[in-house]
Amino acid sequence: MSAKVPPMAFVAGWPIGHTRSPVLHGHWLKRYKIAGQYLPLPIAPADFGEALRMLGKVGFVGGNVTLPHKLAAFELADEVTDRAKRLRAANTIVFDRDRGIVADNTDGYGFIENLRSARPDWRGDAGPATVLGAGGASRAIVAGLLDAGVPQLRLTNRTREKAEAIADELGGAITVVDWAEAEEAVGGSALVVNTTSMGMDGGPPLSLSLNAMGAGALATDAVYAPLDTPFLKLARAKGAQTVDGLGMLLHQARPGFAAWFGREPEVDEELRQAVLGR
Ligand code: ATR
Repeated sequence: MSAKVPPMAFVAGWPIGHTRSPVLHGHWLKRYKIAGQYLPLPIAPADFGEALRMLGKVGFVGGNVTLPHKLAAFELADEVTDRAKRLRAANTIVFDRDRGIVADNTDGYGFIENLRSARPDWRGDAGPATVLGAGGASRAIVAGLLDAGVPQLRLTNRTREKAEAIADELGGAITVVDWAEAEEAVGGSALVVNTTSMGMDGGPPLSLSLNAMGAGALATDAVYAPLDTPFLKLARAKGAQTVDGLGMLLHQARPGFAAWFGREPEVDEELRQAVLGR
């Protein structure tokens, strides 16, 4: 009889150098004294399909997939969750003996859970929300907000067609707003979310004034490097409450960890500091 092999999970990307996920899952494994491993795997796009199928046969219980594999993982899966289907993208994979490759997308969930844990009184139906940007992060956040019951979602992007594509795909209460009118959209919004790369380390500068932001509004950023982004600083200066973007990364990781390692993990300050490398 062979000894039980400790469960292994992966994060697959190309490149994979910058991911914080191994620190995050490694912290939980240590804290809960689970003899598992979580490994970063650089996998080139051409090899991804073959590699994913093979990982399920060599002791991996599942893993995360990041850029550029989110669509491929979704398409290769034997079973997909509703929220992955909605976004046509997967970030979490579970290898199941009976169901095969099961693909989920926890990005929108992570965004909403971050808001809820930072502001327990936050409600999706509190009023209109404005989402700045229409890239990959935006789609998941928009879907999460629609599910949370946001009555009107103002989606604005420098390249308007990308916002229109998200609106067409996700439907619901989305109003596409021209980028030239982003400042007005911010006015009267209960929630304002930056998903653009403005203000990110190495990214373009923030080009908005946020002058119309209401004093009672809540502002959050998908960017977490730096943690206190120019967008969050400016929103605070206008009287808004703010929630930083690190929690979205931490919360999106919870369903995967629970499925692979059999324990619901907690997000707390110690984890935040570990992931920040402090
Ligand atoms: P992610 O997947 O992290 O969302 P992305 O797909 O590269 O990243 O999207 C970057 C977002 O930042 C886009 O919405 C982009 O706008 P465009 O679609 O017009 O490119 C936005 N963005 C980047 N630089 C910007 C700038 N200088 N001003 C306004 N928006 C900008």
